[in-house]
Amino acid sequence: IEAALTDGPLRGKRILVTSGPTHEPIDPVRYIANRSSGAQGTAIARALAALGAEVVFVTGPADVPAPDGVQVVRVQTAQQMSDAVDAALPADAAVFAAAVADWRMAQASDRKLKKSRDGLPVLEFAENPDILARVAHMTEGRPGLVVGFAAETDDVIENAAAKRARKQCDWIVANDVSPATGIMGGTENAVVLISAEGAETWPRMGKDAVARRLAERIAGALSG
Ligand code: CTP
Ligand code: CA
Repeated sequence: IEAALTDGPLRGKRILVTSGPTHEPIDPVRYIANRSSGAQGTAIARALAALGAEVVFVTGPADVPAPDGVQVVRVQTAQQMSDAVDAALPADAAVFAAAVADWRMAQASDRKLKKSRDGLPVLEFAENPDILARVAHMTEGRPGLVVGFAAETDDVIENAAAKRARKQCDWIVANDVSPATGIMGGTENAVVLISAEGAETWPRMGKDAVARRLAERIAGALSG
């Protein structure tokens, strides 16, 4: 087991992975969040560790358990995830698989909103920090390889390529999460890897297989 943990092409590499949703409180009993099981991010962290990487796994409240053999940092909100990412840097590579809530309450309530007393709530939002964009734009201490995700329902490659350019990440793993694909909440994924070299469509496969293939590509990029 010791050999399995210390051998492999990613031995000596420190890799940060964000995963799962974030929960943004409305009041002590309610929150807003994106749908995310955490399955793909968890599989990626596991695959990177299996290739020998030292993995820091920053996760929101996911449905699936964190993998063994990684350093787990548990957070709830986007702001906490952003702080945990800063604390985890520097790293050789960073993979941002989390489904971060884009908005939080401008002011979360300390007390439970009561329907009888307060009528229909009017929720005022504030924008959360874009963790991926911030790290990818770093001029000092930027990870050598920054990988983002893009879950889209329309014009997948076009939207994801624009996201890559805007956020300045090296790669984007894009997927089509339209309800008809059955990808959301399922065990399979069909992704397009977008890099400076263009768009590479991978066949639909299990999330574990996507993770292993991505981990191998990361190992190739960090060694070459
Ligand atoms: N991301 C992040 N911090 C945020 C929002 C997104 O780190 N506050 C990361 C995600 O982990 C993912 C990538 O950015 O790797 C793309 O997320 P996505 O939600 O697709 O992009 P957005 O810029 O939020 O655009 P959209 O309006 O499509 O939601
Ligand atoms: Ca978003």
